[in-house]
Amino acid sequence: MEKTYLMIKPDGVQRGLIGRIVARLEDKGFKLIAAKLITVTEAQAKKHYAEHEGKDFFPELVGFITSGPVFAMVWEGDDVVALSRLLIGKTKVGEALPGTIRGDFASHTPLNLIHGSDSPESAEREIANFFAPNELAHYNKDIQAWM
Ligand code: GTP
Ligand code: MG
Repeated sequence: MEKTYLMIKPDGVQRGLIGRIVARLEDKGFKLIAAKLITVTEAQAKKHYAEHEGKDFFPELVGFITSGPVFAMVWEGDDVVALSRLLIGKTKVGEALPGTIRGDFASHTPLNLIHGSDSPESAEREIANFFAPNELAHYNKDIQAWM
């Protein structure tokens, strides 16, 4: 089944939104297969945001994601990469629609609460940056047949 890397950023952790964000992902029918509260290292941050290296906001981006604990997660589901990004909403808060996580909870643009992989290939790379293979759970949920 398709996997994605989702990460509640330091602003989401500080605001006490872990539970509500996880609930939305569970409500949608995705399956959680790994989760941990971690502080991202500088090396992990640079690897994670490699596509933005050289842009003027890169140092700010790395500084922000390493500024406090994040809640790192791996979720599984059919088309979970695209569907979870729909649930997350647009990057800029002015474009994030109500009903999405960013649309409902974020009010200032760089503080957009949660990261979601943008392709299955990015997901694979990002999961490997934050989780060892033996940290991913393998289990079935009977409810999946009804989703
Ligand atoms: P992620 O799920 O966090 O990757 O967001 P995204 O895929 O919606 O956006 P993108 O990958 O293009 O950018 C990654 C992150 O960089 C965004 O979530 C923002 O936090 C940040 N970012 C993007 N553009 C800017 C910018 O112009 N200024 C600043 N300060 N941050 C930006
Ligand atoms: Mg991105």
